[in-house]
Amino acid sequence: MKTNSKKNITVETPLMASLHFFFTFSLLLLFAGNTFAQKADLAKTPPMGWNSWNTFATNINEELVIGVVDSMVSMGFRDVGYNYVVIDDGWMLRERDEEGNLVADPEKFPNGIKHLADYVHSKGMKFGIYNCAGTQTCGGYPGGRGHEYQDARLYASWGVDYLKYDWCYHGNLTSDAAYTTMRDALYATGRPILFSICEWGDTEPWFWAGEVGHAWRISGDIYPCYDCEDRHDDGLPTQWSAWGVMKILNMRNNDTLRRYAHAGAWNDFDMMEVGNGMTPAEDRTHFAMWSLLASPLMLGNDVRKTSKETIALLTNKEIIAVNQDALGIQGFKYLQDKNLEIWAKPLQGGAWALCFLNTGNESEKITFNWNSHTIIDKIFNKEISFAKTPCKIRDLCAKKDVGTTKKPLVATIASHDVLMVTLKPLKK
Ligand code: GAL
Repeated sequence: MKTNSKKNITVETPLMASLHFFFTFSLLLLFAGNTFAQKADLAKTPPMGWNSWNTFATNINEELVIGVVDSMVSMGFRDVGYNYVVIDDGWMLRERDEEGNLVADPEKFPNGIKHLADYVHSKGMKFGIYNCAGTQTCGGYPGGRGHEYQDARLYASWGVDYLKYDWCYHGNLTSDAAYTTMRDALYATGRPILFSICEWGDTEPWFWAGEVGHAWRISGDIYPCYDCEDRHDDGLPTQWSAWGVMKILNMRNNDTLRRYAHAGAWNDFDMMEVGNGMTPAEDRTHFAMWSLLASPLMLGNDVRKTSKETIALLTNKEIIAVNQDALGIQGFKYLQDKNLEIWAKPLQGGAWALCFLNTGNESEKITFNWNSHTIIDKIFNKEISFAKTPCKIRDLCAKKDVGTTKKPLVATIASHDVLMVTLKPLKK
C-alpha cells in the first residue's frame, strides 16, 4: 500500500487490490462453506421429534409444551432419538410490533419463547418453531415474507434449532427462490438451524430442495385415518387436501422421490398420526412404513397421554434403527400381489429391511419362498439374491429372530397390518 504524502491518501497498487479481493473472497467462501458443510451434519439421518399441529392445531401454550417435553423424557422418547420439540402455527400475535418483529402470544407463552427454548435445551433436547414463506401463516398469523433476515435473527436469539416453513399466502413467489432466501437468512445467523420445507409437494421440491432444506413435505396434510382423502364433489382433491397414511404412501412416484433423499435431505411424509385413533395394526403400518421410507419421524400425538402400547411401538429401537440407518436410503415397493405389498430398504452392512403389508380388509396367510427372490435397487445399486446370500430373519415388532431365508416364510398378516423384518446375511 502506498501513501501519497502530499494529499495523505492511501492508494492500493493493482497487486494489493487483487490480494485484498482474494482474501475477502476466500473469507466469504470459508463462511459460506462452513454453513453449507454443516447442512448434511444437521440431519445426517431423518429428523425425529414432536410437533404440536396434528393434535393441538393453534391451541398451544407453554404449559402444554413443557408437559410434552417432560413426558418425552419420562416415557423414553428422548432417549431413543426424538429430540426436536416443535411448536407449529399459532404461537404468535396477529401483528408484528412497531419494529416489525414477530411477537409471541403473551397469553399462550407468558415467559416468552426463549424461556421455553431454554427449558427444552435444559432437558438435552432441541427447540423448533414454525412460520410461513408467504405474507401470512395458514392460520392467519404474520408470515415471513420480506422479514426473512429479521425473523432469522430473532429465532437465533431465542435459541431456535429448527424452522418449519409453510407455503400459505405465497402470492407470486417462486418456491425455490423463497425458500432459498430463508435458508440464506438462517445461514447468516451463524446458528445451525434445521430447515424443514412445507410446500406440500406442490412444486416438486425433491428436484430443488436438497440444496435448500433438510426435509421437504411431499403431500397435503395427514389425517389420522388409513386411506381417507379430501375430495370435491367432482372427485378432484381439495386445495387443502387431507390424506390418510396409505394415500400419502402411494400418492407420488416413489422412484422419482427416493433418488433425491440422502443425508441432510429427506422426503417428509408428514408428522405421524400414531396414537391418534387408528387401530393398533394401522398404527404399526404407519410407523413401520414411515421408518422404511426414511421419513422424518415427528410424533403428532398428545405425548402426555400416550398409551403403553403406543409408547412400545414408537420407542421400538429396532424399527427406529431402520429409519436412522447410516446408508440413508429411502425404501421402495419391491412387489405387489393384490392386497399384499412388499417394501424393501437396503441397510448398511449388506442387510435389508422388508415390510410385508396387507392393505386388504381380511387377514392374509403368506408363504414367501425367499430362494426365488432377488431384490434389486436400481437407483442405489444394491442387490440381494436370497438363493446366493441366505439371511437371518428378525421380526422387528415382536423383537424376535424367526429363522433364516433357507426355509419359506409362513405368516398370517392381519388386515391393514404389517410384518416388518430385517435380513442379515449369515456368516459364511
Ligand atoms: C399446513 C401444514 C401443517 C400445519 C398447518 C398450520 O399448511 O401443512 O402441517 O403446519 O399448515 O397452519
